[in-house]
Amino acid sequence: MSSSFLNAQSLQRFPVICIDGPSGAGKGTAAWRLAQDLGYQLLDSGALYRIVGLKAFEAGLLTEDADAPLDEGLLEQLTQSLQINFEPNVTANRVDIIVNGEVVGNQVRNETVGGFASQVAVFPKVRAALLKLQQDMAMRSGLVADGRDMGTVVFPDAEVKIFLTASAEARARRRVIQLERDCQSADFEQILATIKARDVRDETRSVAPSKPAADALMIDSSNLDATEVYTTIKRYCQSKGICC
Ligand code: DC
Repeated sequence: MSSSFLNAQSLQRFPVICIDGPSGAGKGTAAWRLAQDLGYQLLDSGALYRIVGLKAFEAGLLTEDADAPLDEGLLEQLTQSLQINFEPNVTANRVDIIVNGEVVGNQVRNETVGGFASQVAVFPKVRAALLKLQQDMAMRSGLVADGRDMGTVVFPDAEVKIFLTASAEARARRRVIQLERDCQSADFEQILATIKARDVRDETRSVAPSKPAADALMIDSSNLDATEVYTTIKRYCQSKGICC
């Protein structure tokens, strides 16, 4: 194990499975199921950026205008002020996020807050302020880490790295189905444009851009259902000596 995973007290971390890739590729579903099967914790790193984005919006530090300049120092201070914890919610099949003692519900799981998250995620100081919280999770138990830079930056020596992707069209179609299921209006072309704009920002930012680690297994889920994705991931984990 590399020294990057030894903390000041030389504690060793537990095994880490990284599942990186864009929104809508199926990471969340696969990561949750894998964490349940393995008895590992789940790190939903996108939720961290969504929380910072939402809190920044509420504090008046950003707007929906993605081109407006933002103050990195204030965003860093805000990020550092947040006390964030994760708690599994087995009834709802998800991990609840507790921020400053309060459960953050579905208000972070929409396209608008996803856009805020992508805006704050470009800042190195915001990312640095969230790094230790993420790495510390692997000091407590095995971890399935879902995000963009899990395998490249946060856990570069992880036992398993997967990059799960899908075409923007396939991801937009899934989002439309999800919104319609929740009785919300959904415009395919508008959702596709939003997804593409977010992909560009996430993939081209100068720090920790969304990209596969050199040693990641690539999975394209455009034509796979959730069970096929999960089976592929599970077999790969088993090939790496992690059994579920
Ligand atoms: O996975 P998600 O849709 O919840 O992520 C929301 C945004 O957060 C995404 O557009 C980019 C950012 N993000 C990031 O920069 N790094 C991560 N590890 C996870 C998410």
